[in-house]
Amino acid sequence: MDTATATATPAAPPAPRGVIRRLQSRPGRQDPFPLFEEIRNAGPVVSLGPHALLVTGYTECLQILTHRIWHVPDHMWRAARGLHSDGPSAQILNTLPRLNPPLHGRLRRMQSGPFTPAALERLRPAVRSLVRVHLDRLDTELTQHGQADFIDTVARALPVAVMCDILGMPTEDRALIARYSLETAALTEPFATPAQTEAADAAAVEFHAYVMALLDERARNPGTDLMSQCLSHERSGTGQVSREELAAHIVFLAGAGVETTSSLFATAVQAFENHPGQALWLAAHPEAVHQAIEELTRWDPSVQNAVRVPTQDTTLAGTPVPAGTLVHAFIAAANRDPSHFEDPHILDFQRPPQRSLAFGAGTHYCLGAPLARLNAAEFLPELLRRFPTLRTAGPATRAPGINLRTFLTLPVTRRPNGTL
Ligand code: HEM
Repeated sequence: MDTATATATPAAPPAPRGVIRRLQSRPGRQDPFPLFEEIRNAGPVVSLGPHALLVTGYTECLQILTHRIWHVPDHMWRAARGLHSDGPSAQILNTLPRLNPPLHGRLRRMQSGPFTPAALERLRPAVRSLVRVHLDRLDTELTQHGQADFIDTVARALPVAVMCDILGMPTEDRALIARYSLETAALTEPFATPAQTEAADAAAVEFHAYVMALLDERARNPGTDLMSQCLSHERSGTGQVSREELAAHIVFLAGAGVETTSSLFATAVQAFENHPGQALWLAAHPEAVHQAIEELTRWDPSVQNAVRVPTQDTTLAGTPVPAGTLVHAFIAAANRDPSHFEDPHILDFQRPPQRSLAFGAGTHYCLGAPLARLNAAEFLPELLRRFPTLRTAGPATRAPGINLRTFLTLPVTRRPNGTL
């Protein structure tokens, strides 16, 4: 487990017994929300052993994500505690979520080009066409076999295709990118076992080598994609970014863009089935899709927690937090904090707009949030329009880990002669 050596024991009540193990269990991964409530009932800030805290309150999570004294646990913090600092992925993936200002800001600006509103509007027709292609594929699978794996056919395949377009990765490598993205997901998991970290490390090394080869090729034949744009930073020399660092950013970006969006799409399928009234309402009001995306990501966010350390002694909800303590801000719990959201467990696409923490907040606010919203806005209304009788045909399987709500499989079928 990834914990800090804090200077003193925080005066917080202990976390419910075995709660991390229970969150990692199969039922805990299917439905973590009762466990988040158990943590919340123990207190807004609870201790996980002497050196780490769990936080479930909206106000406290927002404080952690936005106040300047809170940093991400970076290379130096990890090295000082002998934590996984020398593994290949720690070297390779020293990227945005593990960097603090000022380096963080400089590298973030370098990658922000494709995520501006103008760039995304230019991308919209390509996303629309990829949505059509992938839903055609789902249609064919369902017609020929009566059943399909929604993850393999659409939920992971579509964001991979979009990311490949943005990054300039070859179409024929999409299956490879899908595999890399899944296999490296455990690198963002603070409670990964050594075996999971080792497997993710190996995949990261392979993915990094693959991207390095592509960057070398783009350096010889530049295009208009993000890889070519990033190379121009390397060439200009202003950013002092090495090619290895560029490759690391691309590796992280590809993974971050795929697993999260894939989880959102699969969550939507389950939500539409279990909340048919909401699905019917959205089908009748496709113009409200942005509202529905905000609510879906509040209700069951793809990223469940964020980790931070305070750079000086501080307090959270009155609890002293010594500098260097590792704090887990449970975004998914904050999004259901009853003191902030009315009836937080209810999925309601007509909920009045209220900011959730699904895409984080502050310095590390999700770089790809506008792209995720664009993908979902193009995808969800089409899914409802073309597949009004889509149903799950068995339970979903999920990857181990509690940070990302990664789906491995989700069998789907059409209900015969049915309507919603
Ligand atoms: C439903 C979709 C998505 C969700 C729920 C999501 C969620 C998040 C969250 C919560 C964070 C902040 C983590 C923290 O503060 O520690 C984050 C960061 C990030 N996300 Fe996303 N994300 C999504 C899609 C994407 C996409 C499509 C991309 C890229 C194409 C992306 C790229 C990133 C990057 C690069 C960061 C790190 C930003 C930084 O550290 O400055 N995400 N995401």
